[in-house]
Amino acid sequence: MCGIFGYIGDKICLPYIVSGLEKLEYRGYDSAGVAYIDNEGNLEIRKVVGKVQNLKEILDLSVNSFIGIGHTRWATHGGITQQNAHPHVDCQGNIAVVHNGIIENYKELKDYLIKRGHIFRSQTDTEVVPHLLEDLIDNEGLELEYAITNIFSKLNGSFALLIMDKRRPNVLYALRKQSPLIVGFGNKENFVASDIPALGEYTDKFYYLKDNQMAKVTRDEIRIWDSNVKKYIEINPIKIPQERIRAEKNGYPHFMLKEIFEQPLVVRRIITELERDPSGSFEIKDIINCDIPWHKVEKIFIVACGTSYHAGYYTKFSWEEELPYWVEVELASQVHHRNLRIPDNTVFVTISQSGETADVISTLRKVKEKGYKVLSLVNNPQSTVARESDYFINLRAGIEIGVAATKTFMAELVYLDLLKEYIKYKLFNEKVNLEKWVLLPTYLENYLTNIKDLVFDIAKKYYNKKNFLYLARGRNFPLALEGALKLKEISYVHAEGIPAGEMKHGPIALLDPETPVFGIVYQDDTYTKMLNNLEEAKARKAPIIALGNENDRKLENLVDDLIPIPSIDPFYYPYLGTVVLQLFAYYVADLLGREIDQPRNLAKSVTVE
Ligand code: M6R
Repeated sequence: MCGIFGYIGDKICLPYIVSGLEKLEYRGYDSAGVAYIDNEGNLEIRKVVGKVQNLKEILDLSVNSFIGIGHTRWATHGGITQQNAHPHVDCQGNIAVVHNGIIENYKELKDYLIKRGHIFRSQTDTEVVPHLLEDLIDNEGLELEYAITNIFSKLNGSFALLIMDKRRPNVLYALRKQSPLIVGFGNKENFVASDIPALGEYTDKFYYLKDNQMAKVTRDEIRIWDSNVKKYIEINPIKIPQERIRAEKNGYPHFMLKEIFEQPLVVRRIITELERDPSGSFEIKDIINCDIPWHKVEKIFIVACGTSYHAGYYTKFSWEEELPYWVEVELASQVHHRNLRIPDNTVFVTISQSGETADVISTLRKVKEKGYKVLSLVNNPQSTVARESDYFINLRAGIEIGVAATKTFMAELVYLDLLKEYIKYKLFNEKVNLEKWVLLPTYLENYLTNIKDLVFDIAKKYYNKKNFLYLARGRNFPLALEGALKLKEISYVHAEGIPAGEMKHGPIALLDPETPVFGIVYQDDTYTKMLNNLEEAKARKAPIIALGNENDRKLENLVDDLIPIPSIDPFYYPYLGTVVLQLFAYYVADLLGREIDQPRNLAKSVTVE
């Protein structure tokens, strides 16, 4: 969480910093701020509560300054106030720092620094950094760069830091430990940012800092210092074509809506990227060298958070049905608190859109330490999860800007299902008929076009309700959880996904005419029991919306609003159902006038535990 951006070069810096921060706003938007060194050598700080737009309103973007750093905050330590907004400075106002992450030992450091006479102005953990540097420079006589490299060993926790000192106006320092940070190479200008979309407009050449590395960034060069070997090292920057980085709304009012409608394209891309073999098998390119002995595996342990967890949970059912494994799914944040007693022949599968979710990373490290193999699905091949896993599959969904995950969920569902087929082929030499997947993008495309108006009309009917219950059974239940999560995170309406069989054990008490039930009622093994559960809800006068098969007259007569799924192979139901759940949440949030792409209190990647 939090976005940071730095510029040094031959152009006026503030327009770059502000535009970079706008592209990083999905990481947090509680407050925003910049620090820059002007032509007279003054260190100027401007910060505001709220979004980058508020910052823009108080800034003179044309000010003569060629070096600066900026921050958009998701508050962890210290309330949402101007004082707590970054950048933070030392007592004398020489050093400015922006930070993403959590400095876990900040209390001890703060006490120590206060005893040494430092005066703190905020409640943040971050502020210890400029004071610590000041202390190392002024009281211990260290040179700036030496002091900066020194702090790797003094700070516990996670950090991406950008540091600037007005006494050295030609250099920016960027440090990374467990929080993402990327440097971008320009011509007579260089950049630093938390994520790549902020840089795509200016360069296609990047280096992802690794843990315990520091970048020394000047106008003309970027050098990387590695604290493991305590010296500058050679690096190979990577080239990423601009079209893969830049995200535009392309005429859609929100990124989320654009991303919902982009899903057919994402699936098409995934299918095209498979290496198909005329003999009836296929390879997933990214794991072509994967040497997991699938025959020996006993257990698959899927770990993820939020929407990615729902994708894993959905997958559990079909994997358990079709593969000879015991499949367990757990929230990464819960794994910490478990004493895992698991068979040696367990493969961990982690799923993460960002590849930077702190809980996923810590689980990954914990299980790797114990010697388990980890296969990950991530949408960012440069991310920590991708780099630290034994194998990873790139979700190929393209950059997702909306805080609510949509197209990456679709990509996760598709890849997890393909992975199951791939393992089946490895185990049983079963031929794979990919035709079903080949048709999926077209089904999705047609369905999105045909269903959107109906979903909008239903959203219009219910958008002012305060509580929704999403009901489903068996394999459809994770989709109910996902539908409820989508609705609550962008509309702030309370919604719960409940296994329909659990209703009578308590939640049915919630039902009344003001509490709509959203049922997922496909004609599968859950059908009859789902109908009974909806009857029970109807008897309590709850309005009922159902996602079900077209031509299902029984269901149509029972519910208030039926959103029909076409009579095609049930293989397609979860994918088509998913877009309905996404659209419903989107339209409700839009009708309520919510900030859909940047819902309150949330950030796109959750980089703190
Ligand atoms: O980047 P990740 O997939 O690891 O993120 C996990 C969750 O933070 C994420 O899915 C979150 O729940 C989304 N806001 C859901 O739309």
